[in-house]
Amino acid sequence: DGGINAEVKEHLFKVLVIGELGTGKTSIIKRYVHQFFSQHYRATIGVDFALKVVNWDANTVIRLQLWDIAGQERFGNMTRVYYKEAVGAFIVFDVLRESTFDAVLKWKNDLDAKVQLPDCSNIPCVLLANKCDQAYVSTPENSKRMEEFCKHNGFIHWYDTSAKDNINIDEAANCLISKILEND
Ligand code: GTP
Ligand code: MG
Repeated sequence: DGGINAEVKEHLFKVLVIGELGTGKTSIIKRYVHQFFSQHYRATIGVDFALKVVNWDANTVIRLQLWDIAGQERFGNMTRVYYKEAVGAFIVFDVLRESTFDAVLKWKNDLDAKVQLPDCSNIPCVLLANKCDQAYVSTPENSKRMEEFCKHNGFIHWYDTSAKDNINIDEAANCLISKILEND
């Protein structure tokens, strides 16, 4: 109709949120999409979905289709189905539980083995050190160690996040969206 909306481009991106049980995947999504947090834990069964609409800039609207995959799925064989056609991912661990960090590379390897971009490169992945409201993670030594870990293992970036206190969730999402747009 020749109105101002004529210039707006819409993108639909499928993004995965994966990581061990109880690390806060569902909570991060609830915070990001609904500005809501609950202490109550109810394990995700299989997969849940959420849609976040981001007005990226004057000409760009992003529709992020978030796939909230149950931590227990790492022991199942459905991840190949869930990962199909994803263009980005978050891997979440719980800063209070070392075992969930130890499992990060298992998730990353599962991801890289099962989904690629059309040019055969790995999909961009951001690492989230969640529940940072409960532990001090941002020491310079730790940041340096995490940066090395990311560079070495093909993560584009890492953030300490809190779904409870709303820390760094928008920043992490924007980082991933920027990279997805570059690839698009
Ligand atoms: P699965 O669905 O089983 O894979 O777990 P999940 O990764 O979706 O974890 P969920 O979001 O359900 O959170 C697990 C528990 O951690 C809940 O009791 C949340 O309230 C709590 N939690 C999540 N994020 C945070 C956070 O940033 N800070 C604190 N303090 N607690 C959190
Ligand atoms: Mg969940």
